[in-house]
This record gives sequence, structure tokens and C-alpha cells, in this order.
Amino acid sequence: MAKKILVTGGTGYIGSHTVVELQQSGCEVLIIDNLSNSNAEVIEGVKRITGIRPVFEKFDLTDMDSLKAFFNKHEGIDGIIHFAASKAVGESVQKPLLYYRNNIVSLLNLLELMPVHGVKGIVFSSSCTVYGEPDSNPIDENAPIKLATSPYGNTKQINEEIIQDFIHSGANIKSIILRYFNPIGAHSSAEIGELPLGVPQNLVPYVTQTGMGIRKQLSVFGDDYNTPDGSCIRDYINVVDLAKAHVIAIKRMLGGKSKQNVEIFNLGTGNGVSVLELVRVFEKVSGKPLNHKIVGRREGDIEKIWANPDRANSVLGWKAQETLEDTVASAWKWQQRLREKGIM
Ligand code: UD1
Repeated sequence: MAKKILVTGGTGYIGSHTVVELQQSGCEVLIIDNLSNSNAEVIEGVKRITGIRPVFEKFDLTDMDSLKAFFNKHEGIDGIIHFAASKAVGESVQKPLLYYRNNIVSLLNLLELMPVHGVKGIVFSSSCTVYGEPDSNPIDENAPIKLATSPYGNTKQINEEIIQDFIHSGANIKSIILRYFNPIGAHSSAEIGELPLGVPQNLVPYVTQTGMGIRKQLSVFGDDYNTPDGSCIRDYINVVDLAKAHVIAIKRMLGGKSKQNVEIFNLGTGNGVSVLELVRVFEKVSGKPLNHKIVGRREGDIEKIWANPDRANSVLGWKAQETLEDTVASAWKWQQRLREKGIM
């Protein structure tokens, strides 16, 4: 029988791409999202790709009464992929309690109700941010967890610990924790993509908006790092590749194939790319120069980090497939689609 999967934050950037891949793999998908950083129109984009409208309920996961009512209404949910979270690093420094409440209470509520409703497993959306500034690269899952530099990063670490503690206490659920490197790009159809509210904080939406003339100029945060061209290095992973890893992970977990009750995987390409290299890739795929200037370092930035994805490659049988060029081109196509639609 088709697996019934709850995707929290399913109208968000990574969530919506995962909903598409889940549906295309035969899963029945239900979404909970409070639309705090996304739009219900995303559901239409999903439907245009897959032909299937996922069940969608708008409420906040910190609202336990609504969550209880949801589980009573939708029986037989097999597993959860938990994306819903606040994710702006800078904002988390300004509003720590908001971040701790949103990101931690949401998970607590889900975990508390899972055994009650026979939900067997949860895939958790974590981040390479838990590694802080790595001692060496590429970085594997056994690398030490560093003290978090923001409340946002701390919520990822705390949530990983909460899941582990709950399972170690004997709770009858399983979990797979996925630590993402830097997700970028959009679905090849350009029906869904990243749609940041306001001024983008992340590199690629800032680049594509600058290419479109929405922003005047990209500020490159620092060229005096200890890297070949002086700009920071990240591991940019295609969002559809990332979404596919979630489908593999949840099927592994629900199919009883997990080796341990909690498994952790890095999701990255294994390649480090600098900010200036990424700018050049954008210029190549868009065919136009990108207005950018070097400015000072951004506080809290990590100099260089990229994944050792061997465990995901061998254990999950998952590997990032898309090239950086195709991925940046997909982000540019999405930005152009937003313009055609008059959204941006
Ligand atoms: C950041 C967070 C990470 C979080 C992720 C969520 C930090 C240190 N890390 O990742 O914990 O999971 O966002 O999306 O904040 N850059 C520019 N100009 C810009 C924007 C970015 O030069 O206008 C550079 C940054 O200095 C960095 C790279 O681009 O070197 C990537 O930045 P970004 O997309 O914000 O991601 P991270 O900082 O890696």
C-alpha cells in the first residue's frame, strides 16, 4: 500500500521539492505549514508537476490542539518528514525565544503524538551548521559537533539531541537525521523554487535577483579568507537531488532497513565551490556579467566547509547527480519564471 507521509513545512523551499518527489514515487502526501515563510500557491505548482494535489492544512505546529485534531482526522500516517522551522540565522540572534519556541516546541509536539498515532519514523531536516568551522574538509558524520554560533544553529543541535534521547528512552519510533550542506536551484519545470520574502540572505537567490535587476549589486562577503581565491567555500547541492534523498531515507526507515534506530547522513556533493566561482558559473549560464563587489566579511561566516557524502552514497545508495551549471541554470530559469508571472 502507498505510504502516507506527513511533510511539515511542505510549502517551503526544500519541503515543496520533496513533496513532488514523494508523490512521484507513489507516496500519499499530507502537508502542514503555517505559511509564515511560504505561499499556498506552491500547492498549485506541485499539482501542475505531479497532477496530484496534496492534502494541505494551515496551522502552526506549536499549536498542540490543532496537531492533535490533525492526527485524529488523518489516520494511518506512516512517517513524517519534518522541515517546518524558522531558518534565518541573523533573525535568530535578534529573536532567540521565537526560534527556540518555533523550532523546538514543533518537534516536541510531533514526537509526543507519533507513538500515540502509530507513526513509525521521522526524517529530520538538519544542517551542516552543526559542525561549525570544521578542523578539516571534507567533513564526515563523525566530525565533532561544535558550539553553535546562533540560536538557529543551536535549535538544529538541540533537536538532533531530543530525537536521540527520545529514541534511547525506548520510544517505539525510528529517525533519520539529514545534515544538508547548501541547497540551491529549482525544479527543472520552474513550477516551484526558492521564494525568499524580502531581501534574500542566501547567496543564490541574491545572485539571481541581482541578475534580474531586482537588486543592484551582489556583495561578496570577504576575499581575504584562507582559500584559493579568498572567498568562502561551500558545498552547493541541487534541491531536487536533496529531495530525492528524503524519499530514499523515509522508505529505508519505514521499510525496516535502518541499521540503527537513529541514523545520520551528510547530504552534499563532496565538492567545495567558492563564492567567486559561483558568480562565474552564474555569468556563464545567464550569459551576462553579474554586478558584484567585494565587501567585508559577514559576521559568523564559516571559511570553508564541504561534505564527505560517502555514507549517504554507500548506505542510502544516493548520490548528487546534477552539475553545478545545470543547478544554477535552474535557479535562473525559476527567477525568470517569477518575472514572467509578474511576481518579482
Ligand atoms: C547559512 C547558515 C546556515 C543555514 C543556511 C540556511 C551561516 C554561517 N550559515 O548558510 O547555518 O543552514 O544559511 O539557509 O549563516 N554570500 C555572499 N553574499 C551574499 C550572501 C552570501 O557573499 O549576499 C556568501 C556567504 O558569505 C557564504 C556563501 O555566500 O560564504 C553562502 O552563504 P549563504 O547562502 O547565506 O549560506 P551559508 O552561510 O553557508
